Amino acid sequence: MTISDTNVDKLVAQLTLEEKASLASGSDYWSTKAVDRLGIASLELADGSHGLRKQRASADHPGMTGTHPATCFPPAVALASTWDVDLLGRVGAALGREARARDVAVLLGPGVNIKRSPLCGRNFEYFSEDPHVAGQLGAALVRGVQSEGVGTVVKHFAANNQETDRMVVSSDVDERTLREIYLNAFETVVREAQPWLVMASYNKINGVWSCENPWLLRSVLRGEWGFTGAVVSDWLAVNSRVAGLAAGLDLEMPGAAGNDERIVAAVRDGSLDEAVLDDAVLRVLRLVEAHEEAGRAHPAIEPGTHDDAHHELARAAAADSIVLLKNDGDILPLTGSDLTIGVVGEFARTPRFQGAGSSQVNPTRVDNALDAVTAAAQRTGSRVAFAPGYRLDGADPTAAPVTDPATDLVAEAVEVARTADVALVFVGLPDGAESESYDRQHIDLPAEQDALVRAVAAVNPRTVVVLSNGSVVSLEAWHDAVPAVVEAWLLGQAGGGAVADVLFGAVNPSGRLAETIPLRLSDTPAYLNYPGEGGHVRYGEGVFVGYRHYQSTGREVRYPFGHGLSYTTFDWSELATEVAADGAVSVSVLVTNTGTTAGKDVVQVYVAPPSRPVRSPARELRAFAKVDLAPGESRRVRLTLERRAFAYYHVGAGQWVVAAGDHEVQVARSAADVVLSATVGVTGDAAPADLTIDSTVREWLEHPVAGPALMQGFAATGETGDGSDQSTMAMIAPMPLRRVSRLPGVPVTEEQLEGMVAQLRQAMGLTP
Ligand code: BGC
Repeated sequence: MTISDTNVDKLVAQLTLEEKASLASGSDYWSTKAVDRLGIASLELADGSHGLRKQRASADHPGMTGTHPATCFPPAVALASTWDVDLLGRVGAALGREARARDVAVLLGPGVNIKRSPLCGRNFEYFSEDPHVAGQLGAALVRGVQSEGVGTVVKHFAANNQETDRMVVSSDVDERTLREIYLNAFETVVREAQPWLVMASYNKINGVWSCENPWLLRSVLRGEWGFTGAVVSDWLAVNSRVAGLAAGLDLEMPGAAGNDERIVAAVRDGSLDEAVLDDAVLRVLRLVEAHEEAGRAHPAIEPGTHDDAHHELARAAAADSIVLLKNDGDILPLTGSDLTIGVVGEFARTPRFQGAGSSQVNPTRVDNALDAVTAAAQRTGSRVAFAPGYRLDGADPTAAPVTDPATDLVAEAVEVARTADVALVFVGLPDGAESESYDRQHIDLPAEQDALVRAVAAVNPRTVVVLSNGSVVSLEAWHDAVPAVVEAWLLGQAGGGAVADVLFGAVNPSGRLAETIPLRLSDTPAYLNYPGEGGHVRYGEGVFVGYRHYQSTGREVRYPFGHGLSYTTFDWSELATEVAADGAVSVSVLVTNTGTTAGKDVVQVYVAPPSRPVRSPARELRAFAKVDLAPGESRRVRLTLERRAFAYYHVGAGQWVVAAGDHEVQVARSAADVVLSATVGVTGDAAPADLTIDSTVREWLEHPVAGPALMQGFAATGETGDGSDQSTMAMIAPMPLRRVSRLPGVPVTEEQLEGMVAQLRQAMGLTP
C-alpha cells in the first residue's frame, strides 16, 4: 500500500495524535518518519546544491565523509557567473537524476542568500550580491531538479548572510531592505518555480527566530507568495518545537528527543490548535505523495549511469562559469604552437574545486588543470614545464596564509617562468580559508602566493593568473603587474579541463561577475556592521548592497558586478522600448558578434529610477539574457520588465509602489558600463499614505489630494497662509501637524485640527 491509494486529506483524519506529532520531525539525520500501518513511507532528504551528498551506511550522523560518489558540479558561485538560466536548468536536471538514482526524494538546495559581505564563509554556496540574479538562477535550478521528480529545498530563509554566530545572531534589518534585497530571491523562486520545501534558517530576524516567525512563514511566505509546500528547519535550528509549529514550521530536521511528546501535550492542554498540526502533517504527506508519484512517472536509474555525461556537463558548465577579468594585448587564448608554457602553482595539480561543509560532494572523478593544459599543449605542439610554487599543506582554517617560506619553491617557479613563452600562475584560497560555519577575516590571498605572482611577473611579462576561490579575493598585490587574470572560482570536479578549454580557446569565456571585486575590504558596504556584536548584526547599509552601494556612491572598484571579457567583440544597437497596457515594458536590443570567434554575450538591463520618496540605488539589475552568436551573426534580444521592476517597497503601505516619472532603462555590460539607454515614462501608483494628526506638515502636503484639502481647511478657519513664504514653510514642514496648532498666532485649535484630520481620513478611506 502507498499513501496515494488514499486521499491524503482523509489520511490525516486516520492518524492518531501521536502519529501526527511524529510526522512533524525526522526519524534520523536524513529521513522523515514512516507510519507503517497506513502505508506512509519515510522520505530521504540529502544535500545539496551542486552535487548529491548521500551518506553510505548508518544515517545517524551528519555524513560529512563516506558519502556515495556523485558528480560535483560547479558550486553556486561559479554557476552564477554563467548568467545562463538554461544551463542551470540542465545542471538541475542532472542533480535530480543522481538523486533519483539513489532514491533521495529531496535535495537540500539551492541556497539563494545574498552575498552581503565577501567575508561570508558560505558565499561559494550562494549565487550573487543581486537578488534578481540569485532569484532567476535559483528558480532555474529548482525547475531542473524538480523536472526529474525530485524535490528541492530553497534555503536558508532568511537573512542568513554570515556564518559568524549563525545559530544565535539576530539579523536586524529594516523591512524595505528585507523585501527588496533579502527576501526577494526567495520570492522569485517560490513564485516562479514552486520548490517542494523552504528551509527556515538558524538565525533570528529582528529578534525572532526564523523557525518561529509567523510573519515570515505564514504572512509573507504562504499568505503573500502563495507557497503551498512545506517548511523544514535548518538542521538543529529548532528552539521551541511548539512555537515553531504555530508559526508555520512543518517539519523539524533532524528530530529532537522529547519534541513529539511536547507537541502532543500542547494539543492536549489547548496551547496548540490541533488544526495547525494537521496542516503541517498534510504538507509532509503531500511530499511523500509527490515522491511516490515521481517514482511512477520516471523510470528507475542505476547509480552511475550518467557519470560520463554528467562529467561532460560539469565541464561545460565550469567553462561557462569562468570570468576573464583582464586580457591585455589579447594574450589569451594560447593559440601559438611550439610554445613553452610554464605552469606554476600547486592548485594546477591539486585543484580546489568546492567549498567545505554540508555541500561537500564525494566526486566521481577529478580533473586537474595541469593534465588538461599539458594535453592541450601537446595537441598544438607546445610543451609544459611545471613548478608548484607553494605548498597547500598546513593551511590555517582561519585563512591565515601558509607560513612555509618556500623560497626554493619560489626560486624553482621563477626559473620555470623565466624560460617560458607564457607563464600560467594558479593561485587561490586554501581549503580551510572559507567554509560553512565560519567567516573569513580578510579577502587576501595567502601572502606567499601574492609574492609568487609578483616574482613570476617580474621575470615573464606574459603572465596569466588563474584564480581558485569561492568568494572574491583582493587582486591588488599584483593586478597591474600581469596582463591577464582569469577568475576560475571553484569549478567542480571537471574544472581542470574547463580551465584548459578557456585558456586555449576551445571555449570562448562568457562568464560575468555576479559579485563585485572591491579594491579593499574597507570599501565594502557592510564593512562597519559585519558581523555584528552582542548577538545582533545590523544591516546598516540598507538596500545599498554590492553594486547598489558602489554605483550610488561613485566608489571605485577593481571589477564591477557584471564584468567579464570575451575573445570576440559584440556590438549593441537599436535599443527599443515599449510600454504595454499592464505597465510592463518590453525592451529589445540588437546584438551582433563583430569578431571572428563564436561567443556568448550577456545583455544586462538595469533600471535607474526618478526621484522617489525613499533613497534608492542609482541603478538596479532587472533583467538579463545570454545569447550565443556565430561570428558576424546578429540577433534581437527581447526582455520584459514587469511593473514590479520599477517599484520600491513602501513600508507604511505594506506594498510595492511605483513612483511616477521618467525611469531610465539602461542596457549595460556591467553595473558600471551602460552602453545604451532609453527613458520610459511610467505612471505612478498613488502612494498610499496613513496620514494622522501626528504626521508632519511635509507628509501632508506631499499627498496630492489630502495636502490641498488640508490647506483649504486651514483657509476656511481664517488662516490665510498659502505656503508662499518659503522660509516659514521650511520651518513648519518638519513639524507634526498637532504641534502647528500650538504655534503662537495660528488660529486653528488642536480640536479643530483633529476634526479636519478625521474628515480627511474618512475621505481617503482610512479608518478613523
Ligand atoms: C546547513 C544546511 C544543510 C544542513 C544539512 C546545515 O548545517 O546549514 O545548508 O542543508 O546542514 O546538512
